[in-house]
Amino acid sequence: MRLVAWFLATLGLVAAQEYKLVWEDTFDFFDPRKWDHEITSWGGGNNEFQIYTPDSANSYVRDNTLFLKPTLTRDNIDPRTGRPFGDDYLKNGTMDLVAQYGKCTQQDNDGCVRNGRQKMIAPIMSARIRTMERFAFKYGRLEVEAKMPSGDWMWPAIWMLPEDWEYGPWPKSGEIDLVEAIGNRNLTNVDDGKYAGIQKMGSTLHWGPAGDDNRWYLTSGHNTNETYNYADYFHLYRMDWDHNGLRFYIDDREVVRMPDPNINEYTNWTGWWDYGIKKDNNTPWKNNYTNPWVNGTNMAPFDKPFHIICNVAVGGTNGFLPDNSKATNNGGYPKPYNNSDYGSGQSKFWDAREQWLPTWKGEDAALQIKSVRIYQTDSQMPSTQPPPATQPPATCPPINSSNALAFSYVLLLTLISSIWKIIV
Ligand SMILES: *[C@@H]1O[C@H](CO)[C@@H](O)[C@H](O)[C@H]1NC(C)=O
Ligand SMILES: *[C@@H]1O[C@H](CO)[C@@H](O)[C@H](O)[C@H]1NC(C)=O
Ligand SMILES: *[C@@H]1O[C@H](CO)[C@@H](O)[C@H](O)[C@H]1NC(C)=O
Ligand SMILES: *[C@@H]1O[C@H](CO)[C@@H](O)[C@H](O)[C@H]1NC(C)=O
Ligand SMILES: *[C@@H]1O[C@H](CO)[C@@H](O)[C@H](O)[C@H]1NC(C)=O
Ligand SMILES: *[C@@H]1O[C@H](CO)[C@@H](O)[C@H](O)[C@H]1NC(C)=O
Ligand SMILES: *[C@@H]1O[C@H](CO)[C@@H](O)[C@H](O)[C@H]1NC(C)=O
Ligand SMILES: *[C@@H]1O[C@H](CO)[C@@H](O)[C@H](O)[C@H]1NC(C)=O
Repeated sequence: MRLVAWFLATLGLVAAQEYKLVWEDTFDFFDPRKWDHEITSWGGGNNEFQIYTPDSANSYVRDNTLFLKPTLTRDNIDPRTGRPFGDDYLKNGTMDLVAQYGKCTQQDNDGCVRNGRQKMIAPIMSARIRTMERFAFKYGRLEVEAKMPSGDWMWPAIWMLPEDWEYGPWPKSGEIDLVEAIGNRNLTNVDDGKYAGIQKMGSTLHWGPAGDDNRWYLTSGHNTNETYNYADYFHLYRMDWDHNGLRFYIDDREVVRMPDPNINEYTNWTGWWDYGIKKDNNTPWKNNYTNPWVNGTNMAPFDKPFHIICNVAVGGTNGFLPDNSKATNNGGYPKPYNNSDYGSGQSKFWDAREQWLPTWKGEDAALQIKSVRIYQTDSQMPSTQPPPATQPPATCPPINSSNALAFSYVLLLTLISSIWKIIV
């Protein structure tokens, strides 16, 4: 009888620790109940060179695969006229995203309406989709099977932003970047000669009390794969996120963990505010900024629900695409603008299209996603959800989740040895 109780308790505990699928998209079709289109030419805060549209030239589903594909603005169809925007549009047209697409999601930096004669209209159209107001989660496992685009100066990303910004505006409430890359086929760092394009990917957290003190550089990891690069091959990008921290993987190979080590192995973890100082050689936060996370848990700001975003940006002047002094675009031409060219970068980029456009080849230039899956354990699921069917039996001892698994192994061993004794 006791054996049976032990056995049931063990099964229940193991089940409680197991990841269960809570959300997925395998792209039978583009589902607007799961994804919302950003529609804006804001530039992502990085002065990027694209207009995000809901145009099916920029995002579509085929063969159970989502394609997010940058195109030239001149070639897209203007819904107002039914004809392509044309070359003249960029410097002599009027962009009015509400008139064109019925909606605009971010108006900063003339992101919704722009007169090309006053400020050049972005030369690229692309897509950025998000699960905002549809699905957000706190803690769990995110798995995305994806292939990055290849094409010079593309900046694909699969990432997450806070659903409710509870600790304040970016970067106070955090940002979680599962994967970011650069689409160039043969970009190498000037200093160490290492790959910086499609052979490299990075995972990063952004966090800090203000935009001018974001300590992302303390929480950024990357992986390089020359034989199976990220743009010619699909890989499985995974993030495991819990109250001890975040761990990023590609095809089950760990890329980075944050904090490093995770909280359960960290001596005297006192939160991300102190980690930002200690890990940065005791550099205090700038400008007497105060801790925005004092009222959160010791994982704040990464202790609130985040939603998923997938996009392909192009260009930008924030430094993510390195200047020629930092990286060489082997095989020919240097980056056609500098990151100091805040106003003129986009125009210089467009004028150099004979150099980069030949590297944007058909659907190789699309970020392709086959599946997005989110898993949670019973204890990670929001309490508002109905209790899962496989709840631990009421008889299970009151033990906490971090040692539940170890405890269940002890139970299992006890069970096996008891059975062994009975048999012998
Ligand atoms: C600019 O657009 C106007 C119409 O909006 C057109 O009449 C004019 O020819 C255009 N200028 C150039 C240089 O294409
Ligand atoms: C490159 O990707 C392949 C296929 O997933 C994998 O077997 C290999 O271990 C990876 N190599 C590196 C260095 O990540
Ligand atoms: C951890 O905190 C305790 C108590 O404040 C202190 O005695 C110990 O030196 C700290 N250890 C480290 C590695 O900072
Ligand atoms: C920070 O606070 C100290 C003491 O109040 C003050 O002397 C200093 O000027 C402040 N620094 C900044 C950058 O505001
Ligand atoms: C933390 O909570 C206290 C008490 O409610 C409040 O006064 C303070 O403004 C809060 N701080 C932050 C950064 O939210
Ligand atoms: C990258 O460029 C370097 C220098 O031109 C060349 O030696 C190398 O073979 C190229 N690699 C690839 C993968 O194209
Ligand atoms: C970038 O800056 C360097 C150094 O000032 C300059 O030599 C180069 O011409 C600039 N490149 C472009 C494309 O403007
Ligand atoms: C849970 O167990 C761990 C490891 O035994 C222990 O460090 C921690 O204090 C426990 N937490 C609670 C809330 O009992």
